[in-house]
Amino acid sequence: MKSAFLLSALTALQLLGVDAAVFPKKIYGVNLGSWLLIEPWMLPREWVNMGGQQCSDCSKCIASEFEFAKAFPSTVDQKLNTHWESWFSQSDVNSLVGVGINTVRIPMGYWIVEALVDRSTEFYPKGGIRQLKRGLNQLKTAGIVAILDHHALPGVQTAQQQFTGRCTTNVQFYTTHNYHRALIWTAVMTALSHLDQDFSNVVAIEAVNEPIMDANLTPGYGTFQKQFVQVIRAVEIVLGIPVPGMPAQSFSTSNFTQALVQASSSSAFSQEVRSVLLDTAPILQGVAGQLSLDLFHFSQNRNLPPLVSNFMDINWQHNNPANPADAAIGPQIYDNHLYYSFGGVADPNENAYLTSVCNLDRIQQDANLGNSPLFFGEWGLPTQFTASDSFLRKWADAQKFSYSKGAGWIFWNFKIEISDLAGDTARQWSYLEGVKRGYLTKDPAAMNDPNVCDDFIN
Ligand SMILES: *[C@@H]1O[C@H](CO)[C@@H](O)[C@H](O)[C@H]1NC(C)=O
Repeated sequence: MKSAFLLSALTALQLLGVDAAVFPKKIYGVNLGSWLLIEPWMLPREWVNMGGQQCSDCSKCIASEFEFAKAFPSTVDQKLNTHWESWFSQSDVNSLVGVGINTVRIPMGYWIVEALVDRSTEFYPKGGIRQLKRGLNQLKTAGIVAILDHHALPGVQTAQQQFTGRCTTNVQFYTTHNYHRALIWTAVMTALSHLDQDFSNVVAIEAVNEPIMDANLTPGYGTFQKQFVQVIRAVEIVLGIPVPGMPAQSFSTSNFTQALVQASSSSAFSQEVRSVLLDTAPILQGVAGQLSLDLFHFSQNRNLPPLVSNFMDINWQHNNPANPADAAIGPQIYDNHLYYSFGGVADPNENAYLTSVCNLDRIQQDANLGNSPLFFGEWGLPTQFTASDSFLRKWADAQKFSYSKGAGWIFWNFKIEISDLAGDTARQWSYLEGVKRGYLTKDPAAMNDPNVCDDFIN
């Protein structure tokens, strides 16, 4: 039902000739991991050269952006800027175009909206937002659409992970204050996606990357899911974009900040959404200043396409999780992540891996709960056993075979450092390296062996 809505909205837009970012019919994507949010394991040599450290418990040394910013307060912004410019550049965009990539997922921390950071207790770099704008512009020119992925949440959403920006067992995301900050981030990203030309290839905003899997440990997450969508749609109503089931509103100002303030007293929105709109106004004005974006001559535009709201699928969590399908207003898409290398999926051998993935039922299981369309937003070639080259070709084919039955797939990661410290991590974790070595085909829609699953399907 939701995909039907999406399709008809998109067809209408195409007929109007609006330059609108839409999801490709099949998503062939890569993650831009370790760009605006560094996970040191992916670039250990660069990390150590910058002044970072490696240790087995990542909370015990400089092994996350938080600890790095804390250790180098006066140089962190300049050091990170050097990284942002080199890790993802025009030549990377050209490489992605060369291998047919049509979508990127961009992992980011909440701190890219700098005013959200409590600088007395939280330490993160500044300046990432300008790099995001630069990268989106390059991707847009290349015809690649983008998902803005809130990957590292205020207060930290999962314990002891570099991908949250801070390795800690003190998980504080699932609280009123931090949900509120995440909603302001969402409002800012929604506004930028519609108002800044360089963001016009943004198709979706993802609420939370990899929350805790046990829903008993994520109180309030279901309410947050609803508020996340309501905030996107509220900002869109201010912009004049029609939202199903919600009344249009007009504002007596061409100052967008002022319109947000006016909307914050509208009875059409819940108290929390109104509070988010009010708090977003000055923060967005600050971001617009950083990006030289004019907020003061806006007019409502009914022809802008709505963003697609995006969540991890319901089956990411267990213990009676909230269903993100219940939060949908307008187009929505779901994200599942699947790695075999961390255990719990299949026995560690070739036959078990291929049997498992060739018979994957996750798309159907999710669809039964309304979580459709679904893409596989993280996967790769890592294994729990030493994989031969010929197995990695099958392993890539078989995963693509199953993941393509849904909305498509997004590989983790577009690249991995190749160095003395990284060793050969790139072999199974880098898309560009995988194509170079022939595990992945140069045309993402193709397979080395389209019949790879024939002998494994039950
Ligand atoms: C736009 O509105 C905001 C919020 O009321 C205000 O602070 C700002 O000065 C206004 N800017 C202009 C150029 O009118």
